[in-house]
Amino acid sequence: MPATATESIYEKYSLRAPREYKNYVNGEWVASRTGKTFDDVNPANSDDHIGTFQESNADDVRAAVDAADRAYKKWRLVPAPKRAEYLYRAAAILQRDKEKIAREMTREMGKVLEETKGDVQEAIDLAYLMAGEGRRLFGVTTPSELPNKFNMAVRMPMGVAGLVTPWNFPIAIPAWKTMPALVCGNTVVIKPASQTPLSVIMLAEAFDEVGLPKGVFNVVTGGGREVGEPLILDERVKIVSFTGSTEVGRGISVACAPQFKKVHLEMGGKNVIMVMDDADIDLAVDGALWGAFGTAGQRCTAASRVVAHKKIHDEFVEKLSARAKKMRIGFGLDDVDMGPNISASQIETVKKYVQIGKDEGATVACGGAELTDGAFGKGHFHQPTVFAGVKPSMRIAQEEIFGPVTSVMKCDSLEEAIEIGNGVRYGLSSSIYTRDVNNAFVAMRDMYTGIFYVNAPTIGAETHLPFGGVKETGNGHREAGVAGIDVFTEWKSIYVDYSGSLQRAQIDTEEI
Ligand code: UN1
Repeated sequence: MPATATESIYEKYSLRAPREYKNYVNGEWVASRTGKTFDDVNPANSDDHIGTFQESNADDVRAAVDAADRAYKKWRLVPAPKRAEYLYRAAAILQRDKEKIAREMTREMGKVLEETKGDVQEAIDLAYLMAGEGRRLFGVTTPSELPNKFNMAVRMPMGVAGLVTPWNFPIAIPAWKTMPALVCGNTVVIKPASQTPLSVIMLAEAFDEVGLPKGVFNVVTGGGREVGEPLILDERVKIVSFTGSTEVGRGISVACAPQFKKVHLEMGGKNVIMVMDDADIDLAVDGALWGAFGTAGQRCTAASRVVAHKKIHDEFVEKLSARAKKMRIGFGLDDVDMGPNISASQIETVKKYVQIGKDEGATVACGGAELTDGAFGKGHFHQPTVFAGVKPSMRIAQEEIFGPVTSVMKCDSLEEAIEIGNGVRYGLSSSIYTRDVNNAFVAMRDMYTGIFYVNAPTIGAETHLPFGGVKETGNGHREAGVAGIDVFTEWKSIYVDYSGSLQRAQIDTEEI
């Protein structure tokens, strides 16, 4: 895994040489007014220094919002099909550079190359989908209750969009928010997660290459307190879109409430796979494996709970554990199945929950330990871990861990599985494995989640369907699909009286 002393990792894997990256404001690459930078390091190998990024502050945010606000005055008047042309061109660049971007993203975020390619592909798909919206952006027309009057409702842009994005989908989620924001006529200031700033800088590079007008898309890197907070609180920012933890989302919601600002929140999950006694067990094992351990469990859609019918429970646990034990772990650009966790503190959280699970009386069916030997010692690695004998009330079955840990519970019936499945404060994604169409439809109806799968894991949402959840996962909005348009527009209802003159109106009415 590690490079030799003479060959650096970026040379060995054909990656970018380390350098200083700037903010992207008003179409220029600019240094922060603080003069300070922070480091971005490969989570699989602390010897691999990716670059330094601007440690920005409120002044940098103000300058970016100034630029976005100025640009908005013109951008909102550019016809939507013309705005869309920039998106088509950006999508083509992301497609052209997909492999390169994905490699940098694996280095920065940790997940394996196939997954980061999927991440870039989601950005491409969403860019094309939203570019198509440039020729749709459908509104509503409806008859008036009066003669000679035309009624319609159109979607209006809102102004500057303030986006705060996570590290687990470093380019997909920024694109899910940026593409609809731009095609609808808003301008953007984005604060990427400090663990994955390069991915959003690469998105800015694509927009820069297509010649997006100055100030339409701006990136300011730095901390939540120093950059995120002034961004969401700026009164010129009319829509805030955030993906991250429920705790931070609640803080954003409270902070924005006095301004009655529109806030879209996409937060935690504790997603469940329900495996019925008639399920194809091998298919369910495969789904649970990738659902739980893909992205090292660091997805808000991760299958961190499984409810297995008592008739197949033991076989399921045995097979899932056997597969998990065989997973190859390491740097995601090598031939491995699972990469590292994002940081030392994330590993601490995983370890803490593994201990909590043991203390609560659950059994470690496989895994359960941090990996520190040899090359692993330079990264943040943890074994894929399956807990069995889990009770629904245990903390490991209730709280989001965001690591490679899943908890298997036993049930007697579909009804009990649904009750356990719904018995958490989150409501993002759920899934059932069954061959019985009746079971599938009952579960689809009764699972209180924003996303539901049949015979597939809780992950793998496609970008043209609404993405998001209920309860403490979301605040009533969805992104991606046409739902993304709803987030970044406001309705304006328009009534046009075309009588021309009173006389003409009277004649028309008399004729009727
Ligand atoms: C997330 O984990 O924040 O459905 C998003 C999925 C991905 C998106 C996950 N397409 O798992």
